[in-house]
Amino acid sequence: MKPLISPSVLSADFGYLADDIKMLNESACDLIHIDVMDGVFVPNISFGFPVMKHIKKYSEKPLDVHLMIVQPEKFIREVQEIGVKYMTVHYEACIHLHRVVQQIREAGMSPGVSINPATPVSLLKDILPEVDLVLIMSVNPGFGGQDFIANSLNRVKELKALIKETGSKALIEVDGGVNLETGAQLIDAGADVLVAGSAIFSAPNPSDMINKMKNL
Ligand code: DX5
Ligand code: ZN
Repeated sequence: MKPLISPSVLSADFGYLADDIKMLNESACDLIHIDVMDGVFVPNISFGFPVMKHIKKYSEKPLDVHLMIVQPEKFIREVQEIGVKYMTVHYEACIHLHRVVQQIREAGMSPGVSINPATPVSLLKDILPEVDLVLIMSVNPGFGGQDFIANSLNRVKELKALIKETGSKALIEVDGGVNLETGAQLIDAGADVLVAGSAIFSAPNPSDMINKMKNL
């Protein structure tokens, strides 16, 4: 099966965001990945709900929101009102992850959970049946353009086995340092969704790059 491609607008040109969203609308991508950073959970600040609202206004693709923030449960209502498909929170940011996941589902969105590179995949076992997506970070979150951490391939394989064992239907999404080379390796390892920022937006022809990723 072809992978789903979720371009990260963190690498888009924010001065011409509507143009970049239009390009994505016309491309073969499946989702639009939106990175929210709070300067606390990660050492960087990206953008918040006013920008997300504008992305939604122009986007014809479902939104895939990745919250790199502490206490994401405080913002379920805001994200719901914008109208997104996936709302993904970090395992490391939620003391009561099960409750947060339930609340996201009750709000009519698909819950996702993300883990940092040092968080063991095995910790996800009990939440797997409750989520629609698991986002494996293949860099330390906070910045675009970092190098892919090779051990992420083993983590995807481990997660794939755990998903099978628990009967979960969760998709495996991978984020950070994804390009044509690492993307191909990730698909072999079992990834379903590829997030890519710099590999797409720094390419001479971003739409063509999306096509290439889609056909890996
Ligand atoms: C990083 C973000 C990523 C980022 C990926 O913390 O979660 O989504 O945009 O950028 P690249 O693809 O350039 O590594
Ligand atoms: Zn992300």
